[in-house]
Amino acid sequence: MASTDSILAGKYPAKAHARKVAEYLRHNGQNTQDGVIYLEAQKTRMIEDNDEPVPFRQRRPFFYLSGCQLPDSYLAYDIKTDELTLFIPGIDPDSVIWSGLPLSPEEALQIYDVDKVSTTDKVNSALASIASSSGNKATIFAIPEQVSEDISFKPFSETNFSILKKAIEDSRVVKDEYEIALLRKANDISAKAHIAAIKAAGSAQNEREIEGAFIATCIANGCREQSYHPIVASGTSSATLHYQKNDENLIDPVTGTKKTNILLDAGGEYRTYCADITRTFPLSGKFTPESRQIYDIVLDMQNKSFEQLKEGVQWEDVHSVAHRTAIKGLLKLGILRGSEDELFDKRVSVAFFPHGLGHYLGMDTHDTGGNANYNDTDTMFRYLRVRGRLPAGSVITVEPGVYFCRFIIEPFLKSAELSKYIDADVLDRYWAVGGVRIEDNVVITRDGYENLTTAPKTAAEMESLSS
Ligand code: GLY
Ligand code: MN
Ligand code: MN
Repeated sequence: MASTDSILAGKYPAKAHARKVAEYLRHNGQNTQDGVIYLEAQKTRMIEDNDEPVPFRQRRPFFYLSGCQLPDSYLAYDIKTDELTLFIPGIDPDSVIWSGLPLSPEEALQIYDVDKVSTTDKVNSALASIASSSGNKATIFAIPEQVSEDISFKPFSETNFSILKKAIEDSRVVKDEYEIALLRKANDISAKAHIAAIKAAGSAQNEREIEGAFIATCIANGCREQSYHPIVASGTSSATLHYQKNDENLIDPVTGTKKTNILLDAGGEYRTYCADITRTFPLSGKFTPESRQIYDIVLDMQNKSFEQLKEGVQWEDVHSVAHRTAIKGLLKLGILRGSEDELFDKRVSVAFFPHGLGHYLGMDTHDTGGNANYNDTDTMFRYLRVRGRLPAGSVITVEPGVYFCRFIIEPFLKSAELSKYIDADVLDRYWAVGGVRIEDNVVITRDGYENLTTAPKTAAEMESLSS
């Protein structure tokens, strides 16, 4: 098997993606005989009252068909001639002194997997020429709100704004070898960053220092951007799923001792592809007995979920297996009471595991194509971001968790119907655990799965790295 770096030494497969999207359009009844796919990059946007641009994030549809991270660029794919043309900004004499010379079309042709590179002042004439070569009966496919005012589609007989966005979103679900290499690279760098962050926690005074260690390691190793704002949650803040503050002291103000655990959910972005990894570790270098019990349950939930994975598995079924594993573990600890089936049917485990087991991962952390149903009246599945069967080549997170969040659990304790299933006295010993989540990123294969996440994970590793 080729190594990650040797795969990534080649070009991002933009042309194959353009063909895949065209095939999707054809498959969905569109006239692609005389069709053109048109996409725009994100624009440079300036910060109000300041000469600096806002941090740049490339538009994903544009990147998928170009591999190009330049702002203010355009793309046209003539389906009939199979010709992919990238338009990049030319030289603006006023900005060269500040920003240097831009990439030239000749240089861009060497870097990107496209047939032609031109400058952005040529977009309208190039579109007109493509349209006239099909006798002006061509259809142009574009995304609403992503067409600049000065662009003219007049030479085309039809403009279709209804299908391209979904065509690209659905095409992105199954990744090719190059995309998997990008995700693996993002994971490898993020694993280094997790190790650095866990080690930094040993002497840190504040959540900020752990976040700093994570981001510094990402940047130093090639992930300039974060996939999402890191979650560095100490003590009971770890029960807040997307905790954002990251500025709490690591000493408990009441007891004057170190807080129990840190939940670190963080991943670097490598050339627009995301890692999304969670680890939970003790601040003292040793899990408390209660934390260790919960850690073992969550690890078991993840391992039992992994055992289900292969092409075609129904994601709801995997999510259910994770719930049943949580129920068994919490019954054993005496936190839950009753039979496994009754607890499952009454959705009692949702009090402790309120989110979905995972989501597709790619250029977006919560990647496209999952078909979530946030209106589902069934609380167990409402927040599941992927519904249905998983195809081979899709990449998904497997991120079970068990949380002790008063806001979520107390209504169950007060419910006339459900309170009998939870032993409040036993539960009292576990509030200090906060939350435990363990999150890895896996590729679905024909016969199983491959785990891209190499960050340490056993309880023993968590303890030795943090001591
Ligand atoms: N880091 C966000 C998530 O796990 O979904
Ligand atoms: Mn996730
Ligand atoms: Mn995450």
